[in-house]
Amino acid sequence: MTYILEVLDVHFSYPGGVVALRGAFLRVRKGEVVAVTGPNGCGKTTLLLIATGLLKPDKGRVLFDGTPLDEQLPQARKRIGLVFQNPDDQIFNSTVYDEIAFALRQLEIKEEEIAERVEEIAEKLGIDSILKRPPYRLSLGEKKKVALASILVYEPELVLLDEPTANLSYKTVSEVEYIISELQREGKTVVVASHDVNFIARVADTVYVLSAGRVIGFGEARKILLDKDLLSRAELAPPLIARVAELLFDKENPPPLTLEELAEKLHKHK
Ligand SMILES: Nc1ncnc2c1ncn2[C@@H]1O[C@H](COP(=O)(O)OP(=O)(O)O)[C@@H](O)[C@H]1O
Ligand SMILES: [Mg+2]
Repeated sequence: MTYILEVLDVHFSYPGGVVALRGAFLRVRKGEVVAVTGPNGCGKTTLLLIATGLLKPDKGRVLFDGTPLDEQLPQARKRIGLVFQNPDDQIFNSTVYDEIAFALRQLEIKEEEIAERVEEIAEKLGIDSILKRPPYRLSLGEKKKVALASILVYEPELVLLDEPTANLSYKTVSEVEYIISELQREGKTVVVASHDVNFIARVADTVYVLSAGRVIGFGEARKILLDKDLLSRAELAPPLIARVAELLFDKENPPPLTLEELAEKLHKHK
């Protein structure tokens, strides 16, 4: 089994003594979409920062493509992209264009090629009309797309998204879901940290549930997302569709998780 990312028995405390991770782990296979879920403060963001080498664990190991990540830095940076929850933590250039071009300029790619790649990704994300604008004046949805574009433009193999749907409109959430499915089609690997179980049900192959810095359950998305007891220990409930289905049908197997699956089931019951 090839794992592109392995975070093994990781412990981490922030300066000041807050213990954020207590032996957390995460194993991500090449090409899959893995969701890390759990309540606020359970350690999702900290886990992503450790998985990308931005924080060093107090104890434990991070392997990227089978060998320790810290021994592969800075080269491995080009192969990994982390999109922060709050785009203001990530965006610092004075125009959208410069923001998206930044990583490519670091790689000393020619300006003409940079222009092509920036325009291509901007078009894909529907932000090509705002390339000249200063990012600080954009809406949250636009900023999130700029942050996403600035990562996707250098085509990392492993993309980590922290709360990619938080506070976004339905349309932008759908666009984010589409981008994730495209990344997967291209053979990329995606890790999302999210407490949005409905979103996770639509995108994830594998789910990890964190509580107080520990993994309290992990496995195939369908199995984890229907495990009411496990989810409730993480202050979560199964996706809305699964809860509706439970009221509509007698414990049938397998219960639907997404709107499409529910529609199919209702169709059969007609
Ligand atoms: N920069 C920081 N300094 C001190 N404590 C922090 C910092 N960032 C997060 N924490 C604490 O670490 C724990 C885990 O936080 P975080 O990883 O952000 O969780 P999540 O992303 O699941 O909400 C929480 O108790 C949080 O308050
Ligand atoms: Mg977080």
